[in-house]
Amino acid sequence: MGLRWCLIFGLTLGLFTSWTLSELIKHQQRVQEEFNNWWRHEVFYQIYPRSFQDSNGDGIGDLNGITSRLQYFVDTGITAVWLNPIFQSPMADFGYDISDYRAIQPEYGTLADFDQLIATAKALGIKVILDFVPNHSSDKHEWFIKSVAREPGYEDFYIWENGTVTEDGDRVPPNNWISVFSGSAWEWNEEREQYYLRQFTKGQPDLNYRNPAVLQAMDDILIYWLNRGVAGFRIDAVNYIYEDEELRDEPLSGTTSDLNSPDSLEHIYTRNQPEDYTLVQHWRQLLDNYSANNGGPLRIMMLEAYADLKLLMDYYEDPQGVQGAQFPFNFGFITELNENSTAQDFVFNIEKWLIYMPVGHTANWVMGNHDNPRVASRYGAKAVDAMNMLLMTLPGIAITYYGEELGMEDYRDISYEQTVDQPACDAGDVDYKWISRDPERTPMQWNDEKSAGFSSNASTWLPVNPNYQELNLRAQLRATRSHYKVYQSLLKFRKLRVLQEGSFTAKALSRQVFALKRELKGYGTVLTIINVSNRTQQVDVSDFIHLPNRLTLAVVGVSSQHREGERLKPAEINLAPYEGLVITLKVHK
Ligand code: NOJ
Repeated sequence: MGLRWCLIFGLTLGLFTSWTLSELIKHQQRVQEEFNNWWRHEVFYQIYPRSFQDSNGDGIGDLNGITSRLQYFVDTGITAVWLNPIFQSPMADFGYDISDYRAIQPEYGTLADFDQLIATAKALGIKVILDFVPNHSSDKHEWFIKSVAREPGYEDFYIWENGTVTEDGDRVPPNNWISVFSGSAWEWNEEREQYYLRQFTKGQPDLNYRNPAVLQAMDDILIYWLNRGVAGFRIDAVNYIYEDEELRDEPLSGTTSDLNSPDSLEHIYTRNQPEDYTLVQHWRQLLDNYSANNGGPLRIMMLEAYADLKLLMDYYEDPQGVQGAQFPFNFGFITELNENSTAQDFVFNIEKWLIYMPVGHTANWVMGNHDNPRVASRYGAKAVDAMNMLLMTLPGIAITYYGEELGMEDYRDISYEQTVDQPACDAGDVDYKWISRDPERTPMQWNDEKSAGFSSNASTWLPVNPNYQELNLRAQLRATRSHYKVYQSLLKFRKLRVLQEGSFTAKALSRQVFALKRELKGYGTVLTIINVSNRTQQVDVSDFIHLPNRLTLAVVGVSSQHREGERLKPAEINLAPYEGLVITLKVHK
């Protein structure tokens, strides 16, 4: 709602409720504040559309499938979802190669299905975030086809270079840049007789943002989806958008002798260039203006950038205070910690983000995604509840990848013949297994029926993890205790004021156990204690809390010896291997 409409609405409401002008103004301010800040304590649930729910029996998840499952989010306590790309694509990188940014991939449905999804989600109080892929299009996009043909207006839509030819007649790319998926980042195009830059697969040519027409086209696409009712965007590979204009060689990193590996270079000319930050600021303006002119909740941006901490922080806000995205994803739990990490590693990693985050911004914690092994496979199946406890009691935003609420596991035994992830296919039938991202993308495990309830088709685009017979939502709903029920309790619990606004302290109580403390005057204290070792541990938290005599267990994991509601002695808290406990002290809503 724009300001004018807010006033008209407010005045009408005032007439009917006989509010005073100052009450009306306060009400308006509250509404506005809620609109501006809705995302700050949100749990964003990532849906991989291809794997969530198939509605038409072709073995591939689709939009109507998602719509049919929206009630699941209401039941779980989720009010915002982000969808991996759903746009028209030849699927060289499963939707990250877009051939029409305004059309829905036919396998996933139609624009009408999308509108229906948005309308149903809105009616259920669920916000939808789309994946925006600005760095590259598909090589099947009409822009690329026209650019190859040097059609006027499209010649410079992509990054084209001649390269050189050696005395022996060998063609050499313009520089030493390497693709994320290994090998030269330059691809020769026979028709145009030039190299194009592609930082991912060869079907994903990099767009040229130094051409204003590209930026304009992308701005228009953002507006197009905003007009269809989305609450914002997850921006893909944002730190790859600009490259050094002089195309300088990147220095060798010295960490590997494999010169085809992206790790062999220091990416000082292809990632996190100053213009990447300016572009994010430009899109922030666009979204802010859109929100101001159209009313409703602030449209937000979450950025995907795997980068050093300090480089990441400037995406929140640059050193001059210019606002960037609402948040760049914090991948620390994925990239920096694992089952071998100590309690100190966890505390250090968590604190690091909070220390470097510019003042006034909101932290976020990503526990999993479609590019990395699942929690149960990274930290061990026993740690699933503890990791969800950690995620849900930290300050700020939590991000859950589909299936993590059930503790779904990677299906690493997918055969080479069944493998579809391009970089894994390219790696060959020996190396594919550990490169492949298919294992974490298998269909959602709803029940123990055919294809885990994901599809009526026995054959699905990726095989269902055979453990679905035991590991599925239905079984977890029936069980007295389950990962899902723990997750559901945590989401309810998260609404407590102390978890939304409380102060935060973390402490390693030993090498094996750490604790998080959230406190808010008048609203109590919440303590999360986690054992990251494979041995039983006893800890004493008396020194960590002020009123240690009323510790009550609020959430316990599936295989805990403890029970909810149990009173604990602060000096003798026992934790099983990888156990997490959420404890309350004098907590009020
Ligand atoms: C990041 C996405 O998460 C990943 O799946 C994709 O392959 C690359 N960006 C390229 O778009």
